[in-house]
Amino acid sequence: MDRSLLSMYDLTGKVAIVTGASRGLGVNFARGLAKAGCDLVIASRNFESLKKVAKDLRKYGHKVISFKVDVTVAEDVKKMVEETISTFKKIDILVNNAGIATVVSAEDMSKEEWQSVMDTNVTGVFLCAQQVGRHMLKQGYGKIINVASQYGIVASSYVAQISYVASKSAVLGLTRELAQLPQLDREIEVFLNSPTAETLYLGEFFFSFFEKRQNSD
Ligand SMILES: NC(=O)c1ccc[n+]([C@@H]2O[C@H](COP(=O)([O-])OP(=O)(O)OC[C@H]3O[C@@H](n4cnc5c(N)ncnc54)[C@H](OP(=O)(O)O)[C@@H]3O)[C@@H](O)[C@H]2O)c1
Repeated sequence: MDRSLLSMYDLTGKVAIVTGASRGLGVNFARGLAKAGCDLVIASRNFESLKKVAKDLRKYGHKVISFKVDVTVAEDVKKMVEETISTFKKIDILVNNAGIATVVSAEDMSKEEWQSVMDTNVTGVFLCAQQVGRHMLKQGYGKIINVASQYGIVASSYVAQISYVASKSAVLGLTRELAQLPQLDREIEVFLNSPTAETLYLGEFFFSFFEKRQNSD
């Protein structure tokens, strides 16, 4: 990154948790924060992948801890937050990024498929925000960034993603509600990040989906 740009976003001495940082966007969020000067806790279910990511991120000169967590399990999330506090004494930033998607038509989706997306994308985001938020309230500051999607705002058109779209819309509502809680003063802020698929490998997935569909029409 451009040096002058980095100095505008200097986060030296800050501590960030990034969930879903074993691959994909989470790694990019974590890398950006490491480059900007943050110490990091990176979290997901796959500890081996996390360790590889952590090794790579340490080249930026900051502390990086890997933590095995299933964001749908309240006890896991609590332990992740406790471990972060015990190591770093504070949490400045949470990037609530862990998420999953299924591509199943609405008429064929099982309750289990529906529920697994809701559990990860909505309950997981809530549990992490709640546990981290409690510490931020004690500290009196902090930033929570919830990762939603463009599909939290618009329909996914031809892609069969009803549970994903519903879950990301729920993240919008959850974020809006958290951001206006009266117990947050100006030093605690809750943000929404709504990426689009076009720039990443998911973009390739969607393009090939549309291509196949077009060819079969
Ligand atoms: N990529 C895009 O184009 C795009 C567009 C819009 C929105 N988004 C959103 O951005 C976020 C990241 O997307 P991505 O494309 O990078 O996805 P990805 O490559 O599939 O990565 C998802 C991450 O979430 C973790 N994860 C999934 N379930 C988890 C659980 N129960 N507990 C803990 N970690 C869990 C995965 O790690 P483990 O498997 O190791 O647990 C992985 O690190 C998601 O919320 C997604 O909805 C992505």
